[in-house]
Amino acid sequence: MTVRLSPRDTAGPSSHDRHWRAGTVQAVSPAGTLDLGPGYLEPGLLPVDLIGEAYAVAAHRFGAAALSYGDNQGALPFREAVAARATALEGLPCGPENILVTAGSSHGLHLLATVLARPGQQVLVERTGYDFGRAVLRDCGLVPRSVATDGDGVVPEALDEALREGAGQVAFVVLTPTFHNPTGTVMPLRRRIAVLEVAARHGAVLVEDDAYAELDLDGTGVPPSLAALAGHRGVVRLRTASKVLGPGLRLGWMQADPAVVRRFTAHGLLVSGGSANHLCSLAVQTLLCDNTFDLHLDWLRARLAERRDAAYDAVADQLAGVVEVRRPQGGFFLWLLAGQTEKSLVDRASAAGVVVAAGSRFGHTEVAAVRLSYSFTPPPLLRAAVTRLADAWKGTS
Ligand SMILES: Cc1ncc(COP(=O)(O)O)c(C=O)c1O
Repeated sequence: MTVRLSPRDTAGPSSHDRHWRAGTVQAVSPAGTLDLGPGYLEPGLLPVDLIGEAYAVAAHRFGAAALSYGDNQGALPFREAVAARATALEGLPCGPENILVTAGSSHGLHLLATVLARPGQQVLVERTGYDFGRAVLRDCGLVPRSVATDGDGVVPEALDEALREGAGQVAFVVLTPTFHNPTGTVMPLRRRIAVLEVAARHGAVLVEDDAYAELDLDGTGVPPSLAALAGHRGVVRLRTASKVLGPGLRLGWMQADPAVVRRFTAHGLLVSGGSANHLCSLAVQTLLCDNTFDLHLDWLRARLAERRDAAYDAVADQLAGVVEVRRPQGGFFLWLLAGQTEKSLVDRASAAGVVVAAGSRFGHTEVAAVRLSYSFTPPPLLRAAVTRLADAWKGTS
């Protein structure tokens, strides 16, 4: 059980593509299109064999404990592994008492919305931000309220004003400071400190949705997380395996002050069912405990960097003067701003056989915008898609 296939051997074109169809996966691309819509990894980047082997190793290593109800807070070996990783990467003292295992960030957000909030309360969100996160909040009876952002993330003065106006009504604030979805923005250190100061002044809880934290594709580093800067005080950080291993794992974790974590372990859902996704967490723990996960991550970052460069270079070259774009340091997305209407951008792209995500899906945008995801399409097809977009948007196709 000790032999490990390297990520290079295990990822790559999947032999299971025939199963990538409606009824098995959440969404399939329209036939014949180049789909730059999905915010997730393409099939060939999902480490199917690596995960299969990790499950086998976990069953062998943990025996019957792998099939029991998991500890309400999450299996200790997994919590120790992710806490040690947080400490190593950020120098932030983090132990298993700071971790609560979730079934992904969406589940973490749902838990927060039910445990830390009362229906009818507001949740402050970035004016342009992760759309499905807002849907989770609404489902729990909460009212997302937008706060202005600029090229560096949420504007501290606007956050201050929203917290003042919403005094007593704001359950928490949700931000994605690193490799933002959809804009790709990384909030600079000075802005992070200013945002933390504003939140602390109002006693507001910041939820740091850090789904893309480990996808620094240039390796130039990002500022410390809000959780690290605050020593977890007043910050709950949501992490997920979805963007680095695969969303089908439904595995994530919350990183917070132990007193906050304890509020969740008495939650009926966890008391009744134990930790979310117990066996999966033990399988991923086996990857974290040797250097297999890091090898995989190096491999994945290199593949994503190829895709980011292919998409960005093609846009900068072929769509200069038509759209504005910033080269993202990491994450999955290019965010294009344009002089045309959003409808014209999306419709013309669609007529040319390219799916793009309309900017308004993510909230308010100053000018027409679309999101191109480079995580779901290999480099040659990304170039082909941008050529089609250039023809379509310049009106020559
Ligand atoms: C910012 C952000 N948060 C959360 C999620 C969902 O994460 P999970 O699959 O862990 O529920 C996504 C996925 O697109 C995302 O972009």
